[in-house]
Amino acid sequence: MADFIDPRRVPQRTLCTGDRMPALGMGTFGSDRFGAAEIAAAVAGAIRCGYRLFDGAACYGNEDLIGEVYNAAIREGAVTRDELFITSKVWNDMHERVEEACDKTLADLKLDYVDLYFVHWPFANYHAPGCSVDSRSPDAKPFSVERFMNTWRQMEALVDEGKTRFIGMSNMTVPKLEAVLPLCRIKPVAIEMELHPSFQQPELFDYVLEKGIQPIGFCPLGSPTRPDRDKTPDDVADMELPQLVEIARAHGVHPAGVCLKWAVQRGQTPIPFSVHESQYVSNLKCVTEDPLTDDEMAVMRSLDQNCRFIKGQVFLWEGANDWRALWDLDGSITK
Ligand SMILES: NC(=O)c1ccc[n+]([C@@H]2O[C@H](COP(=O)([O-])OP(=O)(O)OC[C@H]3O[C@@H](n4cnc5c(N)ncnc54)[C@H](OP(=O)(O)O)[C@@H]3O)[C@@H](O)[C@H]2O)c1
Repeated sequence: MADFIDPRRVPQRTLCTGDRMPALGMGTFGSDRFGAAEIAAAVAGAIRCGYRLFDGAACYGNEDLIGEVYNAAIREGAVTRDELFITSKVWNDMHERVEEACDKTLADLKLDYVDLYFVHWPFANYHAPGCSVDSRSPDAKPFSVERFMNTWRQMEALVDEGKTRFIGMSNMTVPKLEAVLPLCRIKPVAIEMELHPSFQQPELFDYVLEKGIQPIGFCPLGSPTRPDRDKTPDDVADMELPQLVEIARAHGVHPAGVCLKWAVQRGQTPIPFSVHESQYVSNLKCVTEDPLTDDEMAVMRSLDQNCRFIKGQVFLWEGANDWRALWDLDGSITK
């Protein structure tokens, strides 16, 4: 039997609605390396050891098997539905059929509602799973406030219908948020974004917090197992950064533990992925004990190198050659 970490000891986030959510969850994207059955088994183990927040998405291709795990855990009394905080995301090819996408996810997950449903990417630009980074869809278009709000109106309707408790956005930028937030009838409670020591996105992070929105950090360990197509020669290996390794040694933990302690203390909600029991147990446990000192937090802050891994090249439209166009680096929405 794995260690059990009492979920009451896991730090919590209070959302702008007043509702609460664990400050750390488990990711479920297999990065083309880990199969659905293996990930579902890890989710089952993670529930047993005290995880309550799970980050999912239709495009991860495993919601049906993970749904069986949720269902069994609830049926067997290991957990109640309202103790779990389950997320999913509408994929890019379903931006005009959000309810249908959500219904499919709910059927796969065998649930009446999810807790948080995201727009996975702010572009309706589809690409085939596993395609190479230089493939381009001829139908791909730049971001449009009008198209995004059309999708968001459908997201808001899901809240009205009780199919999700909350809605969120993912892979956004400050200029895009500036344009769409004033138009939302129901605001996002959370924004999912890439966040790890070498990519801290301070401007977006501060903006989101200031708006009362919870940042959820993906690739929190620097995603060492991300798909090869998302690797470039200049990428930083977060868990090998010497100053981070030194802090890990001082605390007697793996560098992964330092990434997660930092993330939770900074204010984001990291969602580390692992199929290995010893890893996912220690990932949860490390945020319940032995926090980093203020000096260590300052060292962690200095490790930011603006090193984005998930560049999103496959979502580019014809005419936009560079992935930077997706991220509005000059402060306005790239057209
Ligand atoms: N919204 C989005 O667009 C988006 C994009 C990307 C990811 N996500 C979400 O974020 C989640 C996490 O991101 P990620 O999976 O890319 O990266 P990650 O959590 O940063 O890294 C996962 C890898 O780190 C290693 N690891 C985990 N725990 C460890 C430990 N305690 N000690 C040593 N190594 C450890 C494992 O590799 P080994 O198996 O080799 O040990 C694991 O495969 C995803 O699963 C997904 O749910 C969302």
